[in-house]
Amino acid sequence: MSGSPYGDDRGNKDATITKTDGIGTMTPAEGLDNSTSPAPGQPFLIGEAMTGGYGKGADILHQCTIAVEKGQIAVIVGPNGAGKSTAMKAVFGMLTLREGRVVLDGADISHLTPQARVAKGMGFVPQNANIFTSMTVEENLEMGAFIRTDDYSDTMAQVYDLFPILKDKRLQPAGELSGGQRQQVAVGRALMTQPKLLMLDEPTAGVSPIVMDELFDRVIEVARSGISILMVEQNARQALAIADKGYVLVQGRNAYTDTGQALLADPEVRRSFLGG
Ligand SMILES: Nc1ncnc2c1ncn2[C@@H]1O[C@H](COP(=O)(O)OP(=O)(O)OP(=O)(O)O)[C@@H](O)[C@H]1O
Ligand SMILES: [Mg+2]
Repeated sequence: MSGSPYGDDRGNKDATITKTDGIGTMTPAEGLDNSTSPAPGQPFLIGEAMTGGYGKGADILHQCTIAVEKGQIAVIVGPNGAGKSTAMKAVFGMLTLREGRVVLDGADISHLTPQARVAKGMGFVPQNANIFTSMTVEENLEMGAFIRTDDYSDTMAQVYDLFPILKDKRLQPAGELSGGQRQQVAVGRALMTQPKLLMLDEPTAGVSPIVMDELFDRVIEVARSGISILMVEQNARQALAIADKGYVLVQGRNAYTDTGQALLADPEVRRSFLGG
């Protein structure tokens, strides 16, 4: 529990939203499964050449590839309806792929259910309905730990260190919290399973720029603890600025893939997707 884990001073410093110093570590679980580590040159997670859609409907994803390295941040951006959420659902197993595969930590998990993927180390915060509004903050976190049979009190303490306001409000119904605080509950809930990969679909939807900055700071902090982050964002500029890797999706296809910085500097990407 020392000072800021980053040397810069970006982000909001309003300690009433969340604390601004570090949390120590947000440890991913060890030994949850016996998968081998990725082969050299293989990313920690890859959804590779994913093709598929909903039910018997037309394909939404077309040879779409999304990958993230250990402890890094990958960001998916693109227009409304591009298939960003669909790509996340495909990685999480909520969509049957006609082609392609999903490999996590060296293991092909393409045929596992979402719940089995959680057991393998995936945490998913969906775009909508990502908390139980009538339950308290603490009950939401407890629900997040549903697959755990061990003592999760240390993990809950880590979540409260990451998001101190949640500790203050732990006995309040989550539905009474502000938008930004609800998103903290959703992220905290996903962290309760000690994921190795945290997937966030538009975590800053509907929050102010200050709260967005603060959430991104916490996302960076989680990544620095070794957890890989795969995030969809509407706030494309800000999200690419913290991304190790960025993916621009258009109509279910990879349009541009590069480092976050390179995408931000690409005139084509700027003109078409970042408002100039
Ligand atoms: N449950 C569903 N059943 C059938 N089609 C769906 C379903 N969810 C999304 N779609 C369709 O899939 C396409 C991609 O939608 P998706 O939600 O993945 O886009 P998105 O990039 O996440 O958009 P947004 O920025 O609005 O969140 C759209 O044409 C959408 O209508
Ligand atoms: Mg979406």
